[in-house]
Amino acid sequence: MRRSLKAALAASLLAAIASAPAQAQQKPDEVLALRKGVFQVIKSSFGPMAGFADGKVQLDAARIAVLGARLSAVAPMAGEVFPAGSEKVEGSKAKPEIWSKPDDFKAKMTAFQTAAAKLADAAKAGNLDGVKAAVPDVGKACKACHDDFKEK
Ligand code: HEC
Repeated sequence: MRRSLKAALAASLLAAIASAPAQAQQKPDEVLALRKGVFQVIKSSFGPMAGFADGKVQLDAARIAVLGARLSAVAPMAGEVFPAGSEKVEGSKAKPEIWSKPDDFKAKMTAFQTAAAKLADAAKAGNLDGVKAAVPDVGKACKACHDDFKEK
């Protein structure tokens, strides 16, 4: 491929990305895909740490630090994947109460993010006892939100 053509393609790709609609106007199925992806990353980082805390999974401090960094990177995103307009997407288990009781949902989200940040801090510091101590609060925060806001 000629260099100028490559450059033109790269430029048009960048333009397409830059002009992608802001999150609120994202297509509902894209919002759902992103939401599920965010929660899958949350699960895949928290799950092994929970297993470690239970003595069921062997992990070293370096791996725990990686998982903690991943959790702390993605936990704030969980609050951004329920925009207005994404209430009724086929294949979603999100309950309508997320949008009709936004203060309650936000409180549960914040409780989760706070607990996740504490776990991530312990993981980053290589404080394995701190990791074990921080896991239950995160698990409770997942459950508290799922009980009220996620279909079974
Ligand atoms: C503040 C609310 C809230 C918190 C906190 C929360 N979740 Fe969820 N989670 C949801 C909702 C709502 C859905 C359903 C999303 C949908 O289907 O549109 C969901 C979906 C999921 C899914 C399914 C994703 C998929 O592929 O369909 C997994 C896995 C998950 N959560 C794991 C977790 C874990 C693990 C935690 C804690 C570490 C957690 N969640 C914390 C609200 C929450």
